[in-house]
Amino acid sequence: MARHFLTLNDVTNEELKNILNWADEIKKNPGKYSGELKDKTLLMIFAKPSLRTRVSFEVGITQLGGHGIYYDISTSPMGKKETIGDTAKTSSRYVDIVMARLFEHSDIEEYAENSDVPVINALTNFSHPCQIVADLQTIKEKKGELMGLKLAYLGDSNNNVTHSLICGCTKVGMNISVGCPKGEVFMPQKKVVDEGKKIAEETGGSVTITHNAEEAVKDADVVYTDSWMSYHIKAEEKEERMKTLMPYQVNRELMDRAKPDAIFMNCLPAMRGMEQTAEVIDGPQSVVFDEAENRLHAQKAVMLFLLGKFK
Ligand code: CP
Ligand code: NVA
Repeated sequence: MARHFLTLNDVTNEELKNILNWADEIKKNPGKYSGELKDKTLLMIFAKPSLRTRVSFEVGITQLGGHGIYYDISTSPMGKKETIGDTAKTSSRYVDIVMARLFEHSDIEEYAENSDVPVINALTNFSHPCQIVADLQTIKEKKGELMGLKLAYLGDSNNNVTHSLICGCTKVGMNISVGCPKGEVFMPQKKVVDEGKKIAEETGGSVTITHNAEEAVKDADVVYTDSWMSYHIKAEEKEERMKTLMPYQVNRELMDRAKPDAIFMNCLPAMRGMEQTAEVIDGPQSVVFDEAENRLHAQKAVMLFLLGKFK
């Protein structure tokens, strides 16, 4: 049976650490892996826009000797003229591995259940595991270690990136502190928080939810924020969301509450003046473009892992 990567819980803590080590190794010696996926085809299904995911996956499979097919869902019968299962079963006969960026998480689960080849979640409304592998790689590069570090996440937290950060941070023994408005619209889903706390009991990490931004960032090693207008949020909600989320904007004053050597992260795309100020994202503590680059290396490691090239 094919191994899938729909959330970070699809890999053990040990496997996640290995993937991070391989991502480092691939970054340092890309040429060594240039023929590893020779003649393999990656199907890249997109129901939402993308820069980083779309480009880094295609470059990644090409650099590994394979080929990527970009497949815009608006040109597909999937979910309209045929079931998701029929698309998955059919594409399994053509390609070796699939990545999909879909709206509903249940849709990628249905796809994976029917796929004979590995399926990678390239973002659903619920989770974004590839992003967090790249994020952990970046934090490790900048800080030298992961265990025991504090990551503060600010802003919209009923969010794919927040959910995957809670899972990823706790799996590697980090402490994650989420600062967000009250209420289920903006708070991370309870099942994710409960699961994260359970993982943290084993790894020594922790999960804290607060509605006080200053408390969230206090002594943090990493300050992280994500878009207030995720791809699936309707444009007409913007004004109201900006009002509610503004107390969680990452600005200079908030950054000063974190450790002096704290790094600033955003998975991108980012809007200056919304989830962070220009001064922060364009300032010396920001590592957002290293973070974006690591999507390439991290996803190469994920593809090699799922195709059994790394054990
Ligand atoms: N971070 C990220 O997934 O970016 P894209 O939406 O551009 O792929
Ligand atoms: N939360 C954001 C992440 C973008 C990479 C979104 O879903 O749009």
